Amino acid sequence: MLTAMGAIRRDPLQYLNSVWSEYGDVVQFPIPRPPSYLVNEPGAVRRVLVGNSRNYGKSTIQYKALSLVTGEGLLTADTATWRRQRPLVQPAFHHETLDAVVGHVTTATRRVIADWSALPDGSIVDADEYMMHAALEVVGHALFGTDLSTDARTLTTATLDALDVVIARARVPLSPPSWLPTPGNRKLSRSVAKLDAAVSRMLMQREGQARGDSTGVDMIDLLRSSRDESGASLSEEEIRNEIVTFIVAGHETVASALSWAWSLLARNPEIQERVAAEADRVLGSRPGTLANYRELTFTKAVFDETLRLYPPAWLITRASLGEDELAGHHIPAGALIIMSPYLLHRHPAVWADASRFDPDRFLRPFERDAFIPFGAGLRLCIGRDFANVEGVLMLAELARAFRVSPLTPEMPEGAPLVTIRPQNGSPVRISRRG
Ligand code: HEM
Repeated sequence: MLTAMGAIRRDPLQYLNSVWSEYGDVVQFPIPRPPSYLVNEPGAVRRVLVGNSRNYGKSTIQYKALSLVTGEGLLTADTATWRRQRPLVQPAFHHETLDAVVGHVTTATRRVIADWSALPDGSIVDADEYMMHAALEVVGHALFGTDLSTDARTLTTATLDALDVVIARARVPLSPPSWLPTPGNRKLSRSVAKLDAAVSRMLMQREGQARGDSTGVDMIDLLRSSRDESGASLSEEEIRNEIVTFIVAGHETVASALSWAWSLLARNPEIQERVAAEADRVLGSRPGTLANYRELTFTKAVFDETLRLYPPAWLITRASLGEDELAGHHIPAGALIIMSPYLLHRHPAVWADASRFDPDRFLRPFERDAFIPFGAGLRLCIGRDFANVEGVLMLAELARAFRVSPLTPEMPEGAPLVTIRPQNGSPVRISRRG
């Protein structure tokens, strides 16, 4: 058992992969409590997330760890709370939010282009670092409007600091309880206190303040004005939890997908040229629009294929409420179900030549049950369209301005943290086009 725990801690992806290749699609882990299963069979995964989803809740160690930062927000809430929250949060993701996201993506991409243009041709940049900044800017602007105040910055940094502690905790099945004054717990409570102070200052400042910025709509206003059928609204604490949830769920996920996309495009020049040609044809020299996003079908296939090979949310967990049977295996009540989009997306029974970067596979029919970068069923990612619009437009707008090439033939190593991150960044050499 200790060996298993050590291996999970050292290299969780490698461990999951070896367990799966040795024992098959449904495997019980050698840890005592709760009975824990790796499930990597498309039909069984679908049963957990969609077909029999009533039998599976989110009361798992991973979501409990995350909720130390986000509180009971939409991502971590168990079924009853989630059912009340989802209709109240949904309006924050309406069409007008996506329109605003397009504008924020253009602004963030222009900044990257300006920074890269200031460097001599052939310079080496860390695409990962730029994508982390750009994605933070996009989610920050979408939440708070274009005026990112000092508090907004404090809030986002405190969120990311608190996440560091949570990663360590979620990775290990047994962590010291959060009330023990370990250094990690002290860092966590300091960051959470900072976070809470920044959110309440910001919400207070906005109280009654007429908003007059040019983007028109931001997500906090939508959350505050949301009412459900009974006329109920989100409390201030719930709004705090959703704001932090959006930063946690919407920043590093998109950034790491984009970062992997640049590493992949750098090593696949002919695919990169097709992205640039599509961007030229669809966008010309104009900034992207939502209509353009729908026309960028090859770039979307590139983004999908990146999410297949490097799904930022590499682990999805559930707790079984009652007994069930998954792919012929009996599952007791109270079990931890571990599903890994990373493993499922590379399952050789489903994906031909699974480790090859081949965006064209998404232009042909493919097995949707085996592609779950955003989850599936009722708890599907609420930010899926947001993320796709952001990812596709940012790739297209940057690819039409710059060509990237690799420093080494091999892809960077992946480090599974909250998302799968390239271990030492995504260094690429850039040169201006045209
Ligand atoms: C490439 C980017 C993204 C990926 C890969 C991703 C992935 C996921 C996955 C896998 C889930 C389901 C988790 C589960 O079933 O346990 C999820 C849920 C969620 N995501 Fe995302 N996400 C992304 C972007 C975003 C963005 C941009 C936002 C918000 C701005 C967001 C907000 C959420 C929320 C609130 C939930 C919980 C939804 C619910 O349970 O009703 N995500 N995401």
